[in-house]
Amino acid sequence: MNELVIPAGLLPEDGRFGSGPAKVRPEALAALVSSPLMGTSHRRPAVRNVVARVRERLAELYSMPDGHQVVLGNGGATSFWDLACTSLIERRSSHAVYGSFSRRFAAVTSRTPWLQAPAIAEAPFGSGRLPAVEDGIDAYAWAQNETSTGVAMPVERLSGTDDGALMLVDATSAAGGIDADLTQVDALYFSPQKNFSSDGGLWLSFCSPAALERSERLTGDHDGRWVPDTLNLTLAATSSAKDQTLNTPALATLVLLDEQLGWMLDNGGMEFVTSRTADSSNRVYRWAEANPFARPFVADPALRSPVVATIAFDERVDAPLLCSTLRTNGILDIEPYRALGTDQMRIGVFASVEPDDVSRLLDCIDWVLERIVDRHR
Ligand SMILES: Cc1ncc(COP(=O)(O)O)c(C=O)c1O
Repeated sequence: MNELVIPAGLLPEDGRFGSGPAKVRPEALAALVSSPLMGTSHRRPAVRNVVARVRERLAELYSMPDGHQVVLGNGGATSFWDLACTSLIERRSSHAVYGSFSRRFAAVTSRTPWLQAPAIAEAPFGSGRLPAVEDGIDAYAWAQNETSTGVAMPVERLSGTDDGALMLVDATSAAGGIDADLTQVDALYFSPQKNFSSDGGLWLSFCSPAALERSERLTGDHDGRWVPDTLNLTLAATSSAKDQTLNTPALATLVLLDEQLGWMLDNGGMEFVTSRTADSSNRVYRWAEANPFARPFVADPALRSPVVATIAFDERVDAPLLCSTLRTNGILDIEPYRALGTDQMRIGVFASVEPDDVSRLLDCIDWVLERIVDRHR
């Protein structure tokens, strides 16, 4: 059945619309190839200058308040969850769960032997919520963008919490594509392979003074909690302040991230990236609303992600066939997240994606639908 060949004139210039690792701009890759840094020491000034520039550029992109620090380390956002259990959560956390990634962090804290069972408040996939506020909670956790479902949630300090409770927000797919006010959050953490068009392997976090203090207290010698060095936020912060990482970082990931930050800032910074992702995602949502076979999976327009647009198809559409047909035509990674229904499609419209390529993608979807829809159902 996968023999449909989309006319070349309809195809996007770049067929990468993934929400995992996402489109890397060819210019950034070219800069990586010509970079003299690969294969050189991360303890020498040349690489440390890149780390310094990444930290400065992130601070500029987010208008980072004084006293906050950009901290980075090896392992990706998944490692940051482990690190939060050692260095940030003191006794009990409260999680909002509305997709696979917010669920995974809650699962990690549930299994951590020295923490009490977390409070977990769930919303059905395709909608969202903030964590439940309760006494005795010292850290609140949610995702700014739930990559599995395409739900975006606000980044705002919750009210009525215990004094000093930390707000830990997963911005893996949001950072660099959706704005956030850093005064509202104690750790806004992310991996750089989405809007930042880099590769996997690193975690980065904007840390508030309160988060840094909490970590110093929990990981200090006197507390009695054993904290492995790789999960010690204070050690990571000390290394980051020296523009280094505790152990050897993925240099290519740093170089690509630096390139992308330069591109973002040269073009207008947060205003540039947010208007671009809003433009791209609006094209998808408007198309889905107007299409007789499709609808945005996220019913509430206020929760629809500007960076990961999820579409549900009705029973007349064989969505797996649609996705596989597009894949054989070079349009990649728009299959739904594995835990979601197969009647869906998930389109990553991160900052690097050209809005006009999104329009071409939608034309291609229409072209394939025209040929595969079962109008008799
Ligand atoms: C929201 C969210 N959190 C966490 C992760 C895990 O990131 P990593 O695989 O870099 O650890 C992802 C990955 O896609 C994500 O989208």
